[in-house]
Amino acid sequence: MNHPIFAANWKMNHGPSEARAFLKTFLTQYQRHYDRTIIFFPPAASIAMVASEVEGRSDILVGAQNIYWQDTGAFTGEISGPIARDAGATVVLVGHSERRHVFGETDDECADKCAAAERAGLRPMLCVGEKLDERDARKTEEVVLRQLRAGFSKLEQIDAFNPIVAYEPVWAIGTGRNATPDDASTIHGVIRDELKAIVGDRARAIPVLYGGSVNSGNAPALLSAPDVDGVLVGGASLNTGSWISIARTRPTAEIAPEELGRE
Ligand code: PGA
Repeated sequence: MNHPIFAANWKMNHGPSEARAFLKTFLTQYQRHYDRTIIFFPPAASIAMVASEVEGRSDILVGAQNIYWQDTGAFTGEISGPIARDAGATVVLVGHSERRHVFGETDDECADKCAAAERAGLRPMLCVGEKLDERDARKTEEVVLRQLRAGFSKLEQIDAFNPIVAYEPVWAIGTGRNATPDDASTIHGVIRDELKAIVGDRARAIPVLYGGSVNSGNAPALLSAPDVDGVLVGGASLNTGSWISIARTRPTAEIAPEELGRE
């Protein structure tokens, strides 16, 4: 398994003052772990605040939840890759299911956003995942592969490219239902095979995260599943207590059976 990544997607929560209060508590209670990386995706207005609070903690990165695909210009209300970078982001979510299904973002726009991230020196975390009707119609692989291929199709330097992928089944996001570790592992394997077709052996180093109703109870088993390199967490990342216990997760493989009984 790659060095695991624990990513917090705050969505439209935690403006600058709440973000500062959250980070003050988090940083006093969560000591540096050298075997993992934490990423916070705050709303755009809180990126600079989070970046300044975590300065000096190389184990903690800050990301933008979204960028526009143009670098500058008359696009009221948008933020660009260079602006997100200047605010302190080094990572950006692309194609989160809420962007795709609430705001109508297409595969082609996701490809433009990945290319914009590359130009700005931001590491894109491309989100892929099927809706419930697609899952019921057994189209999970088809949908995920289409989103993956399209998302990375406009990169200039695919060999130097350092992306992250997050598999988030849409039916599992914010619903309390999550994929079983076996289901997640199967799709992650499909994603890994496709990454091999795109970047060859470097595919092994590309983290593939699972997201969708992750909490401190299910995180150990998900993180133990083959090809699951981390978690992307929405609701359970908003509260310092639950986020700290997720960020400290060890895979079940490393936990003694008697400890598991107390989880
Ligand atoms: P959730 O959200 O953990 O609340 O299901 C995950 C996400 O949308 O990234």
